[in-house]
Amino acid sequence: MDLLGQREPAVYGKVTLKQINAELRKIAGRKNIGLKIVQSNHEGEIVDLIGKANAKFNGLLINPAAYTHTSVAIRDAVASCGLVTVEVHLSNIYSREEFRQKSLISPVAKGTILGFGAKSYILGLEALMDLI
Ligand code: DQA
Repeated sequence: MDLLGQREPAVYGKVTLKQINAELRKIAGRKNIGLKIVQSNHEGEIVDLIGKANAKFNGLLINPAAYTHTSVAIRDAVASCGLVTVEVHLSNIYSREEFRQKSLISPVAKGTILGFGAKSYILGLEALMDLI
């Protein structure tokens, strides 16, 4: 996800993660909600971050990227973290390759928003802020 903007722009768009994050900060800032934004390519690090999140945060907005389809560890971390969780994807995973059409995360998330490009993150954050 750190390569967003350059990575398969026909699928994921040209918006960078930095631009998405700036927009999310603006939206949360308007409601006086603090955001901690992290990006990691390492499954274990993501599990560690989710495991520690409960002590400090009220909700979790996550794009698990390719781990969506493979990571029992991230699914278990989400299931047990006690945080209301919204899953987001830029692309509509259900209209893509078969191996993407299963999310291990969706069953343990409150809801999933996908297919709207960078807007999925905005909609996801708005849903999460309403929930918390
Ligand atoms: C993604 C979809 C995943 O299948 C893919 O591996 C990604 C991005 C999305 O946001 O559309 O890395 O999560």
